Amino acid sequence: MAKRIDIKDLDIYYGDFKAVEGVNLAIEPQSVTAFIGPSGCGKSTELRSLNRMHEVIPARTPKARSCSMGENIYALDVDR
Ligand SMILES: Nc1ncnc2c1ncn2[C@@H]1O[C@H](COP(=O)(O)OP(=O)(O)O)[C@@H](O)[C@H]1O
Ligand SMILES: [Mg+2]
Repeated sequence: MAKRIDIKDLDIYYGDFKAVEGVNLAIEPQSVTAFIGPSGCGKSTELRSLNRMHEVIPARTPKARSCSMGENIYALDVDR
């Protein structure tokens, strides 16, 4: 069953540079959601954090109060 994506207070860094700050976002199951905004505002960074591809970039750190699809996708016991 499709799950809701629920993001609370997401910050994403490249090293010391905070590229995304304080994102709160809910995406309902079986809905279409578009990220729009000027170049460099963080659309790709945000999207990469949802499939955990941000972690393959050196010196990257996503931090969120919670980032869940039914469970916290950044919990230590979640397989990559
Ligand atoms: N690999 C990276 N290393 C350092 N900074 C990055 C990297 N990728 C993107 N950034 C910076 O993060 C910010 C957001 O970029 P990005 O998510 O690519 O924006 P968008 O997709 O909205 O154009 C920009 O300031 C960009 O320069
Ligand atoms: Mg982009």
